[in-house]
Amino acid sequence: MIEKIAVLGAGTMGHGIAETFAMNGFQVNLFETHDQTRNSVKEVIESELLFLAENDYIESKDIEGILKNITVYKDLKESVEDVDYVIEAVPEKIELKQKIFKELDGYCKTETIFASNTSSLALNEMLEAVSDSRKERMMVCHWYNPAHLMPIAELSYFGNMPEAIYKEVERIYLKSGKQVVKVLKDVPGLVANRIQQGVAREVFSLIEMGIASPEDIDKALKFGPGFRYATTGQLEVADMGGLDIWCTVGDNLLSVMDNRKEANPILRQKVAEGKLGLKTNEGFFEYPKDKLNDIKNDFNRRLLIQLKTSQKYV
Ligand SMILES: NC(=O)c1ccc[n+]([C@@H]2O[C@H](COP(=O)([O-])OP(=O)(O)OC[C@H]3O[C@@H](n4cnc5c(N)ncnc54)[C@H](O)[C@@H]3O)[C@@H](O)[C@H]2O)c1
Repeated sequence: MIEKIAVLGAGTMGHGIAETFAMNGFQVNLFETHDQTRNSVKEVIESELLFLAENDYIESKDIEGILKNITVYKDLKESVEDVDYVIEAVPEKIELKQKIFKELDGYCKTETIFASNTSSLALNEMLEAVSDSRKERMMVCHWYNPAHLMPIAELSYFGNMPEAIYKEVERIYLKSGKQVVKVLKDVPGLVANRIQQGVAREVFSLIEMGIASPEDIDKALKFGPGFRYATTGQLEVADMGGLDIWCTVGDNLLSVMDNRKEANPILRQKVAEGKLGLKTNEGFFEYPKDKLNDIKNDFNRRLLIQLKTSQKYV
């Protein structure tokens, strides 16, 4: 039974994964190689917990206990030798992930389950790094950013592990408040990212063609399809509207929509101009330096409202 967890990498995803498990009563060892990130991660997590308390999602009196559930490590071996489940959230490089899994195989108990938070790498390539017996205890567990607010986890069930092991991992995600998507085949992007890229391709294409302003295109998504998507999936939406209608509209529209096989040139142009979005103060919209904190908090506040609402109705 999984009680003790290790999270490797305390960056964008790793700190939020550790925070989520700690909020849900698990003991978490958090390993990080970069000194500054390691030394500041508890403060980062504390400020996110304070935000959750200010917005009535958790109680302030619980913050100390949640933080106590997390122990930060500089040494990989020490961080993993007594844990039941390890998830890595280190940079998206196959050589690095393979090296880490190989080391883990030597350091961990035989029954420890290994997971990768990879967004795009194949589980098969990571399996090459571990012993045969470990191969049936290894999977992809893909979170969404920000990990402590987005209620989805995609878990791989690609045929390399017995169902009982999958179920045990699923249990800790359900206990941590996640909606679990069981992914049956190893395809790049799994399920949610593929859906998102399909929508994004058309959005960038609409901008490229000058069909509406950036504000209006985002408005069309938020108050059109996106408004329903938060409560009703695409397949339910299709069933409600009528599959005959979806068939006709698909025939009429899909032939004139974008079907490009690479990122839109408009994105490439923005990248070349150094307009990367929030982190450079400009992307499709502008983000003044003195308002960055407010903008980030506003984004998180909107997600939190949605999270609380979804927990009432799901
Ligand atoms: N950022 C996202 O939106 C997102 C979403 C889902 C999945 N992912 C995946 O999560 C993983 C991590 O992404 P991220 O955005 O958190 O990256 P990040 O760069 O923010 O964090 C990675 C962290 O790992 C640390 N690190 C580097 N080498 C290490 C090592 N050998 N051992 C331990 N820590 C090490 C870095 O110092 C850094 O703090 C990637 O596989 C990525 O594809 C990212």
